[in-house]
Amino acid sequence: MPDCFAHSHNRDHDQSGAGGMVDPFGRTVSYVRVSVTDRCDFRCVYCMPEKMTFLPKPDLLSLEELDRLCSVFIAKGVTRLRLTGGEPLVRKNVMWLFRRLGRHIETGALQELTLTTNGSRLADFSQPLFDAGVRRVNVSLDTLDADTFKTITRRGDMSKVLDGLEAARAAGLGVKINIVALKGVNDHEIDAMIRFCGDRGHDLTLIETMPMGDTGTDRLDHYLPLSAVRDDLESRWTLDNIPWRTGGPARYVQIAETGGRLGFITPLTHNFCESCNRVRLTCTGRLYLCLGQNDYADLREVLRGSNDDKALHAAIDAAIGQKPKGHDFVMDRKTNTPAITRHMNVTGG
Ligand code: GTP
Ligand code: 5AD
Ligand code: SF4
Repeated sequence: MPDCFAHSHNRDHDQSGAGGMVDPFGRTVSYVRVSVTDRCDFRCVYCMPEKMTFLPKPDLLSLEELDRLCSVFIAKGVTRLRLTGGEPLVRKNVMWLFRRLGRHIETGALQELTLTTNGSRLADFSQPLFDAGVRRVNVSLDTLDADTFKTITRRGDMSKVLDGLEAARAAGLGVKINIVALKGVNDHEIDAMIRFCGDRGHDLTLIETMPMGDTGTDRLDHYLPLSAVRDDLESRWTLDNIPWRTGGPARYVQIAETGGRLGFITPLTHNFCESCNRVRLTCTGRLYLCLGQNDYADLREVLRGSNDDKALHAAIDAAIGQKPKGHDFVMDRKTNTPAITRHMNVTGG
């Protein structure tokens, strides 16, 4: 069982937000990823099993509660918010939350409000998202082949995602495409993806598959270390290291032939935890301090216990005081069951 330590600390806490939230390793937490639902219209093979059990609906925080929690984080110095899922756009009325949070963009308290999506509903949501203050989106698209897409997502329709990308572009949203690199599944398509993104002005990131939750498939069979992918790409493309950073774990190169940016997210081959700036909030009010650890703080009871935000500030400070140094992802034959028991859709990455 994961450890819940929400109530384990009792200290005086600064409520002003001045100076921001700093963890025991001196890292400032300025970025919150909020999983607004664990539900999804896809069942990606690296993310969840075919028959997934979702969180009970009565446990979910309301959109008003999510807004309140996010606003407390912003008062405490968070400048960037990313809504994730599951698939964030399947949550009923989620645009209400985007519009509410957009007020913090207007005041300047929030520098960025964004989302990570599977793209299936972007055709309808791109313009409303832009109107709410969103300026870029991260879209998962692991392949350009409709059959492979069906195999990876188990039920998605790629043409909807492609329509969604067009709509995002038409609405003026910047796009980053995420590819989870899967040996023998989509590794032969990376060149085509580089060209696709280059032609459309999308950034692209490659991601190493992370061992989170049982998915009914053997992740190791398809695990692809990105160090090898980069070596391979360098035989055909000119990759120049660039200092471009989005605040996320990706390290970017520019591809001279397309002018596009390509990022590598390498939790397995290169640990980037020393510069971690983020925490994760789930749709049931759990605060995970690290993607690669099981510990969390339960903020739901604190939130519901009082209309005054004082206790929330204290609980968040106590949790940040317990942020671990980093993750312990391991990918080998000896470690058959993932040490992280929850699935990726609980925190949205
Ligand atoms: P930006 O850099 O802001 O564009 O976002 P991002 O790339 O961090 O976010 P996105 O939601 O697109 O996630 C891409 C991949 O990065 C997903 O597989 C996430 O799980 C992974 N990721 C994001 N943050 C972390 C982190 O702190 N640790 C680890 N191990 N993986 C992360
Ligand atoms: N390992 C790496 N990335 C994953 N994603 C989902 N599950 C995993 C996993 N096990 C990716 C999705 C999406 C992002 C939020 O995380 O493809 O782009
Ligand atoms: Fe859904 Fe994203 Fe998980 Fe795929 S990776 S099943 S799109 S939450």
